[in-house]
Amino acid sequence: MGLAYYRIRGGNRLRGTVSISGAKNAALPIMAAALLCEGEVVLHDIPNVDDVDSLAELLRTLGCEAERRPDGSMRLHVRSEANSHAPYDIVRKMRASICVLGPLLAKRGKAQVSMPGGCAFGFRPVDLHILAMQKLGADVELRSGDIFSTTRRLRGCEMFLGGPFGSTVLGTANAMMAATLAEGETIIEMAACEPEVVDLANFLIKCGAKITGQGTPRIHIQGVQRLMGCEYRIIPDRIEAGTFMIAAAITNGELTIKNCRMDHLLAFVDRLSAVGVQTERTEQGVFVSSARRLLPTDVTTQVFPGFATDLQAQLMALLCMADGNSIVTEKIFPDRFLHVAELNRMGANLRKEGPTVIVQGVKQLVGAPVMASDLRASAALVLAGLAAQGVTEVNRIYHIERGYQNMEEKLRAVGADIERRTDGEI
Ligand code: EPU
Repeated sequence: MGLAYYRIRGGNRLRGTVSISGAKNAALPIMAAALLCEGEVVLHDIPNVDDVDSLAELLRTLGCEAERRPDGSMRLHVRSEANSHAPYDIVRKMRASICVLGPLLAKRGKAQVSMPGGCAFGFRPVDLHILAMQKLGADVELRSGDIFSTTRRLRGCEMFLGGPFGSTVLGTANAMMAATLAEGETIIEMAACEPEVVDLANFLIKCGAKITGQGTPRIHIQGVQRLMGCEYRIIPDRIEAGTFMIAAAITNGELTIKNCRMDHLLAFVDRLSAVGVQTERTEQGVFVSSARRLLPTDVTTQVFPGFATDLQAQLMALLCMADGNSIVTEKIFPDRFLHVAELNRMGANLRKEGPTVIVQGVKQLVGAPVMASDLRASAALVLAGLAAQGVTEVNRIYHIERGYQNMEEKLRAVGADIERRTDGEI
């Protein structure tokens, strides 16, 4: 069977209601945190996406049962602690595998985790993850591409977890998970404040951890002897919600977004309103509608509560069609602009200057075959395809399927002309 792609005929105005799935980036670290727990963990609203399957596969190799249930939940239960090796084959597929490092070390006293390599949007170091484990008293060594780490028992400490680009989301998650079972008190200074980190902290607290300050740059953890599994519901995916809000705006449509936390999207909604897209809370969810003519605006990605890098590509697709020039600056991943050349293939007028893209609005995008490169860049191409004149083929959609649950079905249900095909089909 060939590689799957989307065939989109642009121009339909989207109307109706879209229901948002559980957040991939909250689900992944919370699943890894099951390694810390005794007994059964049941997680509700686990999104049905490929990255979750990859992590479930990794957890199984680490002795943890991971079973998806038909109601969208997942049951996790550690049965054996014999193997603490996260091999390259799985880690290279998904960088988030690094978040088993903290739990393995804290619970089993040892971890061997393959170093994740670069990714489509550049160099992505893990130095802060390693620093956090060392601060907690672990021995860490790099050998043959693997991080080898051991400890008798982690010890609480004060750590500063900032790098050249500010705080780290998964680095904070790793440090927090490891510190829950460390002896004594840990303070993580310059902790990431993202809602996914807060969700992880809330899960750990429900398991018996003593954590305060989650959602602020200073997290305080008092180590405990053990964590017990619990039942927990994952927060809605703010990035999926933002992507569908742009789907409404870019097609001049009207969508109600259900299962959406507006308090996680304030910076994004602020930029939407600057370009003329209205969002209104209703009883059913968030109602999104847009002006016929979009205004240009400037946006800079930042750590939470700033504008999320994971929505940069999608907003750029919208700005392509604004009436004037916009400036998009990337402050988290300066090379995360693989969508730029592809959007230009569709008639956009984008010029990259270092970590900044100058967007000159055009009247119309035109359908073309384009190549998905990473998850969010691919979503931007789908959005552009929904608005473009004619047919767009988005190739390599396995990137999209890593992180969006049933994207084409959800879009089709609100009126998009989109089909998932594989090579060889007519
Ligand atoms: N960084 C370091 N050293 C480290 C770790 C990070 O310098 O040890 C730098 C990174 O290079 C980057 C900045 O710190 O410049 C922030 O990266 P962060 O560590 O916060 O990224 P992450 O935790 O690896 C998560 C999400 C990403 C999202 C980023 C930023 C998951 C599974 N991934 O990655 O999501 O873009 O935070 O918000 O939670 C996506 O879903 O498409 C995605 C890429």
